Amino acid sequence: MGEKSETQPQLRSLSRAATEIPFSGIRRFFDIAASMQDAISLGVGEPDFVTPWNIREAAIYSIEKGQTSYTSNYGLIELRRAISRHVEQLYGVHYAPESEILVTVGVSEGLDLAARAILDPGDEVLVPEPCYVSYKPCIALAGGVPVGIPGSGETGFKVTAEQFAQALTPRTKAILLGYPSNPTGATLQRDEMQKIVDLASAHGLYIISDEIYDRLTYDQKHVCASSCRGARERTIYLNGFSKAYAMTGWRAGYICAPEEILRTLMKIHSYTMLCAPIASQKAALEAAMRGEGPVLEMVHQYNQRRRFIVEGFNTMGLQCRLPDGAFYAFPSIKQTGLTSAQFAERLLFEERVAVVPGDAFGTGGEGYVRCSYANSIERIEQALERIERFVKKIL
Ligand SMILES: Cc1ncc(COP(=O)(O)O)c(C=O)c1O
Repeated sequence: MGEKSETQPQLRSLSRAATEIPFSGIRRFFDIAASMQDAISLGVGEPDFVTPWNIREAAIYSIEKGQTSYTSNYGLIELRRAISRHVEQLYGVHYAPESEILVTVGVSEGLDLAARAILDPGDEVLVPEPCYVSYKPCIALAGGVPVGIPGSGETGFKVTAEQFAQALTPRTKAILLGYPSNPTGATLQRDEMQKIVDLASAHGLYIISDEIYDRLTYDQKHVCASSCRGARERTIYLNGFSKAYAMTGWRAGYICAPEEILRTLMKIHSYTMLCAPIASQKAALEAAMRGEGPVLEMVHQYNQRRRFIVEGFNTMGLQCRLPDGAFYAFPSIKQTGLTSAQFAERLLFEERVAVVPGDAFGTGGEGYVRCSYANSIERIEQALERIERFVKKIL
């Protein structure tokens, strides 16, 4: 009794799409670093600040008042109104709060919805590389085919409209842009973005634009894809509260898109997620209404750290360009003769500093490592000392 019968058939296989996508190359290093005493992690892509107090308090207050229900599938209307005002003020693009804005569980859900809403099996999406680790898996899980367009350090990791044009096939459905870029910090100028939009218009393509780092730009104003000529009607604009407001754990994001497109994304969201958590939406509302002061203060601090870390790498002989946005430095480690993975592994075990090997972000990332400067200046300084000691040993 209770024993397995010899004739019991083998459990059937898991989904091929799910089993074929690789595990992210990022987490392994964090897990090892977390188990080490006195390790410094430059690996994690999240702010070291806690969510500003007024934002936390708004959520606490809503819980105290007993606001614990579902919300509209689209999200709280007052939050959608605040998002609409925010996007219009920053970029001059209007989205109707009633029908063109969907509150999501972070940009992560937005990416998944966008891919699932527009792709049929075999449809191709052009993705500049190196890129955020979730882009290609989200496309593949939706049955699509991610087509990487490699950027290179020599051109500041920008991918041009000409490169996209060369990769077009009859199956191309969309271009996925992620600027400012994780991991390279690259941004696009308006004329560069406009050429990509023109290409998309000429071929009837969607643009999925992940602008989660829009507020973290330093020397130039962020260019919102939807604000380019001819872009709004084809763009699925993704953004969220995680990075600019130090709200990664709240899981609050949003999608803006024309009504005909958004309706389909919203349908999937209504069956799979229902709505984003109400307390997080209350917190996001406070962030959108009164979060500007802390954002500017955090950006100021990231900017100081950015200059500090980049100067540190260049001084020790690891060539590093000043990133235009996000909070990552992407120094070249080519002159050490090690691969990115070897460099990251040895640095972790020999000097207890965690960085992410560039090849985890796709083609073009090999020969670089990603170092987050969302860390205090003191920690960055300590990490730089250790990295310099390590590099001197090798060179
Ligand atoms: C480029 C990019 N997009 C999206 C995300 C995920 O954002 P969210 O926390 O809103 O899901 C990240 C997180 O690191 C990211 O770097």
